[in-house]
Amino acid sequence: MTEIVFPNDANPLGNVMGGRVMHWIDICAAIAAGRHARTPVVTAHVDQIDFHRPVRVGGVLSIKASVNYAHRTSMEIGVKMWSESRASGERSHVASAYLTFVSLDPDTGAPRPVPPVIPESEPEKRRRKQQEST
Ligand SMILES: CC(C)(COP(=O)(O)OP(=O)(O)OC[C@H]1O[C@@H](n2cnc3c(N)ncnc32)[C@H](O)[C@@H]1OP(=O)(O)O)[C@@H](O)C(=O)NCCC(=O)NCCS
Repeated sequence: MTEIVFPNDANPLGNVMGGRVMHWIDICAAIAAGRHARTPVVTAHVDQIDFHRPVRVGGVLSIKASVNYAHRTSMEIGVKMWSESRASGERSHVASAYLTFVSLDPDTGAPRPVPPVIPESEPEKRRRKQQEST
């Protein structure tokens, strides 16, 4: 996802608010979880969220989510956010988070099993290893 920080996203210091960052992280994670499960999904748990640097109004943010692990009906999603320099395109790490989403059956609303995650790329294999060692 890509977002621009508008004035109504900001705190009185003129930087993006933590709550708005969490909102975007939740949306990006929900899209990744929903694409994996192919069902409606809900946020069950936010395992961790870290804010590394402020972003001024007008800043451009890139947000990327990945499904790191699938349990029975729940999925662990990792999200990373960067700000982009308009002049150079250089990216700086703004925030990271880990969340758990649960897949729901669209008819009954009950938790529904999800397919396993099969790591293919090197970053996916690395994330799987990290997940298994925690
Ligand atoms: C998430 C929710 C669907 C789980 O329902 P439930 O009746 O507890 O279902 P279960 O006990 O069968 O658990 C289903 C899965 O969710 C996981 N889960 C439930 N609560 C969890 C929590 N707080 N943290 C992590 N995982 C959780 C269970 O471990 C289980 O995972 P698994 O099937 O992969 O082993 C239910 O608690 C809910 O609807 N919560 C509100 C979600 C919501 O509205 N989110 C938006 C923000 S409030």
